[in-house]
Amino acid sequence: MEPIRLGLIGFGVVGAGVGAILRNNGPALAARVGRPLSLIHVAVRDLNKKRPALPEGARLTGDPFEVVNDPSVDIVIEVMGGESPAFELCSKAVANGKHFVTANKLLLALRGEEVYRAVEVAGVELGFEAAVAGAVPVIRALRDALAADQVEQTRGIVNGTGNYILSRMTDERVTFAEALKGAQELGYAEADPTLDVEGIDSAHKIAILAALAFETPVDFSAVYTEGITRLTPEDIIMAGEFGYRVKLLAIARRVDGQVDLRVHPAMIPARQFIANVNGPFNAVEITSRAAGANMLVGRGAGSGPTASAVMGDVVDIARNIVKGGAGKRYPMSAPVAARRRLPARPISALVTEYYLRFTVPDRPGVLAELAGALGRNGISISSMIQRGRQENEPVSVVMLTHKAREADLDKALAEIANSGLCAQPTMRVRIVNDERA
Ligand code: NAP
Ligand code: HSE
Repeated sequence: MEPIRLGLIGFGVVGAGVGAILRNNGPALAARVGRPLSLIHVAVRDLNKKRPALPEGARLTGDPFEVVNDPSVDIVIEVMGGESPAFELCSKAVANGKHFVTANKLLLALRGEEVYRAVEVAGVELGFEAAVAGAVPVIRALRDALAADQVEQTRGIVNGTGNYILSRMTDERVTFAEALKGAQELGYAEADPTLDVEGIDSAHKIAILAALAFETPVDFSAVYTEGITRLTPEDIIMAGEFGYRVKLLAIARRVDGQVDLRVHPAMIPARQFIANVNGPFNAVEITSRAAGANMLVGRGAGSGPTASAVMGDVVDIARNIVKGGAGKRYPMSAPVAARRRLPARPISALVTEYYLRFTVPDRPGVLAELAGALGRNGISISSMIQRGRQENEPVSVVMLTHKAREADLDKALAEIANSGLCAQPTMRVRIVNDERA
C-alpha cells in the first residue's frame, strides 16, 4: 500500500520524540490511518552531531528546503523552532501543496495571520496542537469541541519550565538557578530559556489561543508580558502565609468589546485547583457562554508529550488524506476584512487586588508615608506584615490591597519611588481571586 510520506525538520528534543513514536508505533499508526506513514527526510543543522537512531527509510539532510521541495512529501513536520527560516519553510511547503504540522508557537504568534491565510488559500491543512500546552488538547477543544459556543475567557499555566521552576522554588525551596537547570536537563526549556522565564513563551501561546477563541487577529505586541525572574523566595513564602501559591498565568478574556491579553506571575488561592497544578504540568481553563468553565490539564513540555501532540495532528491529517476529506477550517483564516478585529485592552485598565513588597528603612513615619501615597491614589490596604529588624538595614514591608485600578497603583508606586524611601524597586504581584481573572 502506498505510504503517506512525511518530512521532518528538526531532530532535537521534539523531533527525536516524533522519531521514537514512528519507530515504536508504526503498525498501529498504519492501522489507525488506513495507510502506513513513512518518514523519508530528517533535516538538521549539524550533520555530525550524535543523535538517536532515525526511523527506517529516513535520510538525514542539512538542507531543510530539500524537505519542502520534494514532490513526494505529503506532510511536513516543523520542529525546528524560531521565526526564520521556519516561516519561509512553511510558506514554501504550503505553496507546494503540502500539509504542515508545527510545534512552533513563536512562528504562529508572530506570523500566524500570514500562515493561516496561506494555508486556507492553498487548501492544505495545518496542525499546531503541540504549539500550546504540549500534550493537552486545547487547540482541538477550541477548534472542534467548542466550535458552536462563544468563548469568553481562556486562562492557564502554559509554560512547563516556568511552572516547574515555581513549583520547585515553592515546595523544595531550591534557588531559581537550580530549578532552571533542572528544566533544561529535562528538555522543557526553549533553546533560549529567556523566552520561558520572561513570560514570552506564555505570551506566544496565549496569543495563539486568543486568535482561535475570539476569531480575531492578535497583535503580539499588545500582550502584556511579565516573567518570573523578579520573584524572590521571600515573595513565594509570603504568598504562602497569605494562603496563596504563585503561578505564571496567561490570560485572554473578552471585556466590553476588547481583549484583555496578559501574562504575569499571579497569586492564586491555594485551595483552587489551578494553584495545585505543579511541575511541568500545564492547565488551561476555557470559559464559554453555553458550556461554562472546562479545565484541561496535562504535560505541557518535554519530548514525549510534545511529540504525541505533533503525531496526533499528523494522524488526523493523514486520515483526511486517506478519506479524501477537505480538512479543518480555522475561524481566523478568513480574510481580515471578514472578521472583527477586537481592540486590545491596556493593562492600565485592569482592576484587581495586589501584593506589594516594599524594601524600606525601619524608622518612625515610613509606614505612614507608604500608606499616604497609596491612599492619595485611592488604593486601600487589606493586610500588612513587616518582618525582621536589623540595625541600619532596610526591611520588607508587605501589603495586600483591596481591588484597585492598575493605573492608580502605578501612580502611587511612582510617587513612592520618587520619594527615595525604598532601597530596592517595589515588588508587585497581581492577586487572582476571581474566576473571571
Ligand atoms: P531543539 O532541541 O533545540 O531542536 C531543534 C532542532 O532543529 C535540532 O535538531 C536542530 O538541529 C534543528 N535546526 C535548528 N535550526 C535548523 C536549521 N536552520 N536547519 C535545519 N535544522 C535546524 O528544540 P526542541 O525543544 O525540539 O523544540 C523544537 C520546537 O518545538 C520549537 O519550536 C519549540 O518551541 C517547540 N516546542 C518544544 C517543546 C519542548 O518541550 N521542548 C514543547 C512544545 C513545543 P541540530 O540537532 O543539528 O542542532
Ligand atoms: N519551553 C516550553 C515550556 C515548551 O516550558 O512550556 C513547551 O511549549
